[in-house]
Amino acid sequence: FSYPLPANEPVLNYAPGSKERESLKAAIALLKSQKLDVPMYIGADEIRTSKKEPLRPPHAHQFVLGKFSIGEKKHVQQAVNAALTAKKGWEAMTWESRAGIFLKAADLIATKYRGQMNAATMLGQSKNAYQAEIDSACELIDFLRFNVHFLSEIYKQQPVSGPGMHNRLEYRPLEGFVLAITPFNFTAIGGNLPTSAAMCGNVVVWKPAHTQIYSAQLFMRILKEAGLPDGVINLIYVDGPVVGDVCFSHRDFAGVHFTGSTGVFNHMWETIGKNIPRYKSYPRIVGETGGKDFVVVHKSARPDVVATALLRGAFEFQGQKCSAASRAYIPSNLWKEVKALLVEGVNSFKMGSVEDFSNFINAVIDEKSFDKIKGYIDKARKDPKARIVAGGNCDKSEGYFIQPTVIEARDPQFITMREEIFGPVLTVYVYPAGSFEKTLDLVDSTSPYALTGSIIATDRAAIETATKRLSNAAGNFYINDKPTGAVVGQQPFGGARASGTNDKAGSILNLYRWLSVRTVKETF
Ligand code: SER
Repeated sequence: FSYPLPANEPVLNYAPGSKERESLKAAIALLKSQKLDVPMYIGADEIRTSKKEPLRPPHAHQFVLGKFSIGEKKHVQQAVNAALTAKKGWEAMTWESRAGIFLKAADLIATKYRGQMNAATMLGQSKNAYQAEIDSACELIDFLRFNVHFLSEIYKQQPVSGPGMHNRLEYRPLEGFVLAITPFNFTAIGGNLPTSAAMCGNVVVWKPAHTQIYSAQLFMRILKEAGLPDGVINLIYVDGPVVGDVCFSHRDFAGVHFTGSTGVFNHMWETIGKNIPRYKSYPRIVGETGGKDFVVVHKSARPDVVATALLRGAFEFQGQKCSAASRAYIPSNLWKEVKALLVEGVNSFKMGSVEDFSNFINAVIDEKSFDKIKGYIDKARKDPKARIVAGGNCDKSEGYFIQPTVIEARDPQFITMREEIFGPVLTVYVYPAGSFEKTLDLVDSTSPYALTGSIIATDRAAIETATKRLSNAAGNFYINDKPTGAVVGQQPFGGARASGTNDKAGSILNLYRWLSVRTVKETF
């Protein structure tokens, strides 16, 4: 079975008065009226517990969308058992049938559930319609379809045989179960991490961030409707450390597919390392973690290109992308003009509920996140080494709203130039004219992370120099563009250093990690 390279799912624009906008509004109204009592999905069972948490939109935290059940240790054990029980049947299913399930799920999202997936992402994660569309519709559909294509390409690769001998590779799943841990910020990542492993024939325990549950449970229901057998993916809502306790000490733990913070990922490596003698095989540890993504500007850059890259790169989805532009290096000759454009841009942004489609900025995910981001803004406000040049207002009375904020730091080591903030905060360091190359070295030497970065310049030699010098500072490097918005099949995504294992989501490279190949030689 060979599945040709698909086209990326087209992005719908939801223009005022369009039928797309009307149907999205209807989906929002439907979801708001449902007041779901969301269960965990373990094997064939829908499990509800007596410990419930409300689901609330970050932009309207008094409103209750529904509730979900918090699970405990025994539910993690049940999920692992359900996965291991499903394993035999899933492995025995033909690749064609497995592929059909994921392709059907992609079609269901593209047609029947597009509005609901977007509405769930808008309400649950406070993404505006455009940000939801490129995530929970397009990127998620692309992950499913492209991964089927990539896997069919892998399965075709066979070694050389000759007279008297037949060699073959068997692309088997891992022996055991895979744990998928997914973040709030992309519904598509939530979908990709469990399905990419499952597509290869693995069985999965999926633990989404609590703030992602609202969209995750809908995707889970779509997978079931598409024919995913019970137990192949088990969706649980249990605190991370409890999940880790059960999974990382289990003999059948075969791998973890993770997106989240560097701190949590480091802790996982340690725990898995300590438990190595327990496992049947060395587990696959695949993770995409934090970033402190840069935009370096050369004196030849066009100020409007710089401003657009920064405003979109830093502030779309409130900067809650691991790829978000969060530190910029701007030459002194351009700063006055770029600053004016940034101030104008920030002042023009409308902020508020996702239900008003004219709002470009919505809320950050929760109170903890709000307090943390505000803490950084307050530091900049008080410290003589920095000043706020745009935005800076914060209000959590109705929703967790943080106005996009531009900080100018006199010290390139200022805290907001170094630490990941995961919010709409951009820090700019203005470098002296004539020190472009020194600045490139500074960017590289102050990058414990290496996820994304951009160079903005019209001078080809400057682009060349930056591309070479920053070779290890970003896994996704953009020339004259914002550092966000990687598209499946176009810009494989991921970085090294403290940003993860660089196993490139949205590419063939990622799928190899979920296969354990047997080489078979037969002589005649
Ligand atoms: N893939 C996203 C981006 O490129 C981040 O996870 O922005």
